[in-house]
Amino acid sequence: MAILVTGGAGFIGSHTCVELQESGYEVVVLDNLSNSSEKSLERVEAITGKKVTFYKGDILDRDILKKIFEEEDIECCIHFAGLKAVGESVQKPWEYYCNNISGTLTLVDEMRKHGVKNIIFSSSATVYGDPAQIPITEECPKGQCTNPYGWTKSMLEQILTDMQKADSEWNVILLRYFNPIGAHPSGTMGENPSGTPNNLMPYITQVAVGKLKELNVFGNDYDTPDGTGVRDYIHVMDLASGHVAALKKIKEKAGLCIYNLGTGVGYSVLDIVKNFEEANHVKIPYVIKPRRAGDIATCYADAGKAKRELGWEAKYGIRKMCEDSWRWQKNNPNGYED
Ligand code: NAD
Ligand code: UFG
Repeated sequence: MAILVTGGAGFIGSHTCVELQESGYEVVVLDNLSNSSEKSLERVEAITGKKVTFYKGDILDRDILKKIFEEEDIECCIHFAGLKAVGESVQKPWEYYCNNISGTLTLVDEMRKHGVKNIIFSSSATVYGDPAQIPITEECPKGQCTNPYGWTKSMLEQILTDMQKADSEWNVILLRYFNPIGAHPSGTMGENPSGTPNNLMPYITQVAVGKLKELNVFGNDYDTPDGTGVRDYIHVMDLASGHVAALKKIKEKAGLCIYNLGTGVGYSVLDIVKNFEEANHVKIPYVIKPRRAGDIATCYADAGKAKRELGWEAKYGIRKMCEDSWRWQKNNPNGYED
């Protein structure tokens, strides 16, 4: 039996492939490489010494989905494939709704036609909008998203929930990720954004490596201890092991489950800069800029439910996240293009 990992060549998907193979699972990846490189999968294989079965193709393509379900013995799908750039989603809403929503509808339709009714879905803390409570528990109501990307996650959660309610043979686990950073400790795999990074950590590592001049800190007048935005950063290898824990749960006939995957600790932008500098002995020059549209002041998880029900909790702290992010960037200044 194998696990179908859609989007498995991407940042979180590739790290999860390592964790899956090291936990004894057979891995089949479907990725159209629209935001990734096949080289990430070569690195997975180099780390684990095991083969990844790779199908280059699209989740919107029924033919390739049929082929996979006919050729491979799939027991569960971990569904990472999707477009994820918040700003781009405002410019190209149709592309985001089509890729993420139509893509997922096509995938789950082919899954049920082939009798595969187990799915772990990559959701996001963005579904909480400006959260009604901090720390955020899973009972916190979903909020107003500020961009089409966020709405695709919120809508897909609803679609998968309704499908599970209508057909109890489905097992659906919705994982709401907080802010994944870090990289595999080998320094051979990591985040590989195209163009100028939108997210904080890849921006910092590109300043550190000399590709960008300085960090723009978006706002220092939030109601937080130092005025800069506070987030729950989680090491990507912890996130990866969260998926292995969710797979164990799905095998127990999970029904519908929702879990926050975070550490439960919030760090400000300036905390991250300071920790990065201290961990890696590299200076990160920064300038304070106006707030970025759509940002909120504070977002961190109550991660207790995943600990109670999955026996999972994040192991790695902020120093390790900074060290591993830097090792990857330093060894691979141009990502997988080197
Ligand atoms: P990523 O862009 O590195 O990985 C996504 C992968 O999906 C890429 O390899 C891309 O080529 C592939 N893909 C996109 N559309 C596809 C399609 N139609 N068919 C086949 N493959 C397709 O992103 P990531 O950071 O690894 O994120 C993985 C998932 O987690 C995404 O669904 C994302 O929305 C979600 N998520 C990410 C974050 C984050 O901060 N990185 C936070 C919360 C949720
Ligand atoms: N920030 C800067 N400068 C930058 C980039 C970010 O100051 O160049 C600040 C932001 O203002 C924010 C914090 O750093 O306060 C984190 O910003 P990111 O862009 O790294 O992350 P977000 O919290 O905005 O969003 C990320 C993903 C979303 C996901 C969310 C929750 O981009 O897709 O985490 O999981 F939904």
